[in-house]
Amino acid sequence: MKKALLISFLISFCSQLSFAQTTITIKNTNDAPTIDKNIYGHFAEHLGRCIYGGFFVGDTSKIPNTNGVRNDIVKALKELKIPNLRWPGGCFADTYHWKDGIGPQELRPTIVNKWWGGVTEDNSFGTHDFLNMCELLGAEPYLSGNVGSGTVQELADWVQYTNFSGKSPMSDLRAKNGRKEPWKVKFWGIGNEAWGCGGNMTAEYYAGEYRKFATFMSDWENTGGITRIASGSNSSDYNWTEVLMKGIPLNMLGGVGVHHYAVIDWGKKGSDREFTEEGYFKTMKSALKMEELVTKHSAIMDKYDPEKKVAMIVDEWGGWYEVEKGTNPGFLYQQNTMRDAVLAGATLNIFNNHADRVRMANLAQCVNVLQAVILTDKAKMITTPTYSVMKMYAVHQDAKLLPISFQSPLYTFNGETLPAVSASASKDKNGAVHISLVNVDAKNKNKIEIDANQLGVKNFTASIITSGKLQDYNSFENPNKIVPTVFKSFENKKGKLEITIPPFSVIVLEGK
Ligand code: AHR
Repeated sequence: MKKALLISFLISFCSQLSFAQTTITIKNTNDAPTIDKNIYGHFAEHLGRCIYGGFFVGDTSKIPNTNGVRNDIVKALKELKIPNLRWPGGCFADTYHWKDGIGPQELRPTIVNKWWGGVTEDNSFGTHDFLNMCELLGAEPYLSGNVGSGTVQELADWVQYTNFSGKSPMSDLRAKNGRKEPWKVKFWGIGNEAWGCGGNMTAEYYAGEYRKFATFMSDWENTGGITRIASGSNSSDYNWTEVLMKGIPLNMLGGVGVHHYAVIDWGKKGSDREFTEEGYFKTMKSALKMEELVTKHSAIMDKYDPEKKVAMIVDEWGGWYEVEKGTNPGFLYQQNTMRDAVLAGATLNIFNNHADRVRMANLAQCVNVLQAVILTDKAKMITTPTYSVMKMYAVHQDAKLLPISFQSPLYTFNGETLPAVSASASKDKNGAVHISLVNVDAKNKNKIEIDANQLGVKNFTASIITSGKLQDYNSFENPNKIVPTVFKSFENKKGKLEITIPPFSVIVLEGK
């Protein structure tokens, strides 16, 4: 009898351990901000095989292309509803002279890509190629200007070249190069990582440079149509944000950047796909720090801009590991596993929940570099688990945030803890409700209860991204190993949803 009691106690104890119940409350309100679609932005640098051998294969390639840009990539990114694309860097931006990349191909000079592998490039992908590609993608371009090694005149000229519709030296040059109508580029970065590869500046010095560059950058038609974005802090450098917010007049500042990579240790980043639970835990600890970063940078911005006119723009984020074995260390090519799917889902939930201030973000990087959504190998192209998460989450783009509150259960590893559950919710213009849930825990499922009675929707369906192992990934041989599937492990008990989220998985529920 005693033995039976003990067994029953153990069963109940163990099931509680692996089935912590969490109640999520979702507020149905119209007062919350809209989730800017630009939070789902991407980044394409002249780095490794992102542009050359990635997006751009040239118009003589046998790979189907439009003006040299791969059709399969364009199709995949359109399906992702890519809202914007940042280019040409990154560190590359502060070495890039845009006039090298316009005009007849044979007259374009070569340059050495000093930051990324020291390779020589021929400038065959330049301003027209990028901006026309953005038109194909239906994405807003976000141009990163050269402050570190460029001049004020050069950047002002670039704005005139891309944006001015009247007669001017730069618009005449644009027309001579085959494009009469301006592209009207809205988003302009004034330098990149000015504290590092962009010039090793102090915050005070950069604030002065910013004011000078921003003064001479206009859309040349006085419509106020461009958003000037300051090169933001390195992760938790809060002083950087403070100095910029204090030192730059708000009417010159459309956005302030923040860069944060989820990295185990900059000296020992760990393998992209042969990692242990310890490696996973450390990556997620670094990724989830985004919550604290966004909260603290926001609080500083609130001091100077209580009306929240200036956007926070997390224009580089994602997981950064050692490069895939046997590849050029300067090319930053890494595989993308279930770890990356969880990282993406949890990070995007953080951005959604801070939609009042975070109005743009750019995953680093789009193709073949770091946490890519697309990988290519010659004519082959695959999408990654991160791609699937971005696609599932696209339903949040421009939807009204539904504020969410809950006490997350804990994911414990080696005596350290992280919140195990991450969530965000929104209501789109048709009234459909979407709830995205992530279980960060590598071992335990989590049981969630959501009272959906107040949300004005009745019927729920769901999709999930998960796999047998955290280390699983899509390969060129097995490209569809990890794709979203229908998720049915939940019950709708008269408007109360009971959901069991498997370990390391990402779920999006849709209520109509
Ligand atoms: O995304 C790779 C590099 O990371 C970028 O070029 C730079 O801005 C950052 O340090």
